[in-house]
Amino acid sequence: MKKYIFGNLKMHFNLKQTEEYLENFLPKVESSKNEIVLCPSFVNLMFTGQKLTSTKVLLGAQNVASEASGAYTGEVSASMLKSVGATYVLVGHSERKKYFLEKNETINKKIQECLGQGLKVVLCVGESKYERANKKHKQSLEKQLCECLKGLYDNELKNIIIAYEPIYSIGSGVLPKAKEVEEAVSYIRSVIQAEFSEKTASSLKILYGGSVNAENVKTFAGIKGVNGLLVGGASIKPDEFAKVCNI
Ligand code: PGA
Repeated sequence: MKKYIFGNLKMHFNLKQTEEYLENFLPKVESSKNEIVLCPSFVNLMFTGQKLTSTKVLLGAQNVASEASGAYTGEVSASMLKSVGATYVLVGHSERKKYFLEKNETINKKIQECLGQGLKVVLCVGESKYERANKKHKQSLEKQLCECLKGLYDNELKNIIIAYEPIYSIGSGVLPKAKEVEEAVSYIRSVIQAEFSEKTASSLKILYGGSVNAENVKTFAGIKGVNGLLVGGASIKPDEFAKVCNI
């Protein structure tokens, strides 16, 4: 079955570097059967989108404004993302929460904005090391899911992918046990079933994210209930990310 593979390029690459990256990466994934999505920085979105038009690789953004338009200096709206060819938007990444103090209520508004513009959402959720150590991870996941998805209709969930990313694993090389990921993913599905419906929960796509690379990709992609991967650090290396995409 095809996997959903997202490359979160974070705050890497200027325009020239983006061009070099795409020239190197794109030919290597030409025959991949997976759904590959590249998420460059805002300034590189339009250029990347143009380069992707002749490929099967899709365009995603790393963030979006929680408001539709107006006097919000420095923000980029869902409609702007849509207009440059984005299909997906990453919402609620833990780095947004940590460094930009993003709250679940804001994330909820961002999701509504994206859905209103016909954009698909990758909602990132995950527990901290403290929560895991104190067995509060389920409580934490449930709170994030319920608050971020508040007020959405069941049929809107088809445009939402959940990325399970244990915070301690992001960018650290610290990997959770496969069993822990399997349990967390199954728990996420059970929360969605309780809040929405069994049908929605069973068709929901769930990604794993956190220190995925070419060496461990098979392990994480092979975990029961995991439909794909959200890759940060390894996605900025074209050779390595192509290997991940071609699993
Ligand atoms: P990482 O990042 O692969 O570098 O751990 C994942 C992410 O930030 O989504």
